[in-house]
Amino acid sequence: MTGQFIKGDVHELWKDLAEKYGPLVRFGPDQVLCTDLESILRITSVRSDYRKSDWYDLARMGDDDNLLSMTDKDRRRERRKKVAPAYNGKGAADRAEYLASGSIFQPLDIAQSVHFYALDSLGEIAYSQPLGYIANDKDMNDVLKINEATFPWMYYLNNHHFFFTLLRKWPFNMLLPRAGDKAGLGAIMGHTTSIIDRRLNSFHSSSSMSEKSEKKPDDMLQSFISHGLTRPELQEEVTVQLFAGSDTVANGIRLCLLHLFSSAPNVYRRLQAELDAAYSFPSHKTSSSSTTGSPGIEKPIPYSTCLSLPYLQACLRESLRILPPVATGGFYKDVGLAGDTITGFALPPGTKVATGAAIYAMCRSRQIFGQDADVFRPERWLEAEEAARLELETSEKDGAAAAGGPGEAGRRLREMEITLGLIFGHGQFECVGRKLAMMQMNKVVAELVRRYDFTVLNPRRPCKVENALMWFVKDFWVRVERR
Ligand code: HEM
Repeated sequence: MTGQFIKGDVHELWKDLAEKYGPLVRFGPDQVLCTDLESILRITSVRSDYRKSDWYDLARMGDDDNLLSMTDKDRRRERRKKVAPAYNGKGAADRAEYLASGSIFQPLDIAQSVHFYALDSLGEIAYSQPLGYIANDKDMNDVLKINEATFPWMYYLNNHHFFFTLLRKWPFNMLLPRAGDKAGLGAIMGHTTSIIDRRLNSFHSSSSMSEKSEKKPDDMLQSFISHGLTRPELQEEVTVQLFAGSDTVANGIRLCLLHLFSSAPNVYRRLQAELDAAYSFPSHKTSSSSTTGSPGIEKPIPYSTCLSLPYLQACLRESLRILPPVATGGFYKDVGLAGDTITGFALPPGTKVATGAAIYAMCRSRQIFGQDADVFRPERWLEAEEAARLELETSEKDGAAAAGGPGEAGRRLREMEITLGLIFGHGQFECVGRKLAMMQMNKVVAELVRRYDFTVLNPRRPCKVENALMWFVKDFWVRVERR
C-alpha cells in the first residue's frame, strides 16, 4: 500500500480490493472499505449517528477546526447552518458572469492556467477580490509548487494517524503552514487575514457615516459575517474554501479537457456544435466586441444555458465519473455507540468506515455503468436518459405509471446519478461547495470549447496525473487556436 501511495496510484489499489473482496473489505485493525451504495447512503444520511473520524484532521488549517475538519456533530450542525447560505446564496450566482473571462486561457500549460483561474475566481466569489494569479500569470509565493510537493506526504501520514498527530505537536508543528509565511499556503493565509481584517474594520467597527453608508459587498465573506461567524471562525472558513475549492474545481476542469482532447474528434466537434447552436457568437456580441470582432470579449455563456445542453452535461458527468476530482480520500466515518451491521458484517462502535476511498472504483462499476465502464463515452448518459424517458412514456400510455415507481431503465439512471453524486459526498456530509463547483466547471469548459481548438503537444503523455486523495495534474501542454 505504501508503494502505491508514493507512486500516486492508490486509486487502483482500492479498486482492486473492492473488486476482489466485495462491498466491505477490512484493511486495518479498525478500518474497513465500503463500496456498497445503499450502506454509504445510510451511513451518510442526515439522521445517521455516524460521525466524521479523526482522519479529517488533515483538513485543519489553523489553530481551530473548520467545517470540513470538524468531527463534533453539534458544532458541525451549527457551523454548517451559518456558512451554507453563502454557498447557496445569491452572491455566487450573481458572479457567474465573471467566471469565464476569456483570454486567460491561452497559456500553454493549461493545467496551471486552470488552477490560476480556480484560485482567482474563488477569491472573487468569496471576497470580491481575485488573488492575482491570472494578472501576474505566475505561481505567486510558490503556493502551488509547495502544495504539490507537501500534500501527498501529509495525505500519506494522515493514513497513519499516529504520525499525523505527532506532526501537530512541537517541534514538528513548526513545519506546518501559518499565516505570515513567505511562501506556500501560509502566504495565502496571511493574505486572507488581511482581507478579513479590512472588511471587519471598514464595515463593522467604523463609526464614520460615509463608511457606514457604503454598500456592503454581496459576497460569501459578507454572508459569513452576517450569519454570525466570529473573527477566528471567519479565518478558518475562508482558508478552507481555498483548500477545498481550488484544486478540486481545477481538477474537474482539466480532467474534462483531458478527456475531450484525447477522445475521438467527433466528441469535441459535437460539443462545439451544440454550444454554437445554443449560444452563437454573432447574436451575442456586446456592442464593443461587435466593432472589434474579438471573441475574447464576447458575453460569456449563461449558466442556465449550459444546464440546458444535454451533451455538455453528459461530457461533464462522464469525465467526473471516469476521474472524480476527489478520488480516494478515506473520508472515514466512525460507527456510533450502538455498533452497526454492513452487508451482513457486524462492526463494533468506533470502527472507521472509509466512505470515500473507493469512489473511483464505484464510478467504474460495470454493474452500474455497463461493460464499457472504463471508457469515456458521454453518450452513455444520453442513452440512459432516453431509455428512462421512453419507459416512462410507455408506462404512462399503459396507465401503469406511478403505481410501482420507475421501471428498470428509470432505476438504472437513478443509480448512475446517485453513484456519481457520491463524488461530492452525501447527506449530512455533502460538499457545501457543490453547486458553486458545478457552475464553475460548466462555464469554463463551455467557454473554452466554444472559443478555441486545442492540440495536445505530447500525445504520448498529454500530462502527468498522480493521485493523493485528489489528482495532481501537471505539464498539460497544449497549442491553443481561436476558432
Ligand atoms: C469538483 C469540485 C469538488 C468536489 C469533487 C468536492 C468534493 C467534496 C467531498 C468528497 C467532500 C467531503 C464529503 C465527506 O465528508 O464525506 C467535500 C466537503 C466539503 N467541500 Fe467540497 N468538493 C468540490 C468543490 C468545493 C468547493 C468549490 C468548495 C468551496 C468553495 C468546497 C468546500 C467544501 C467544504 C467546506 C466541505 C465540508 C462540508 C461539511 O463537512 O459539511 N468544495 N467536498
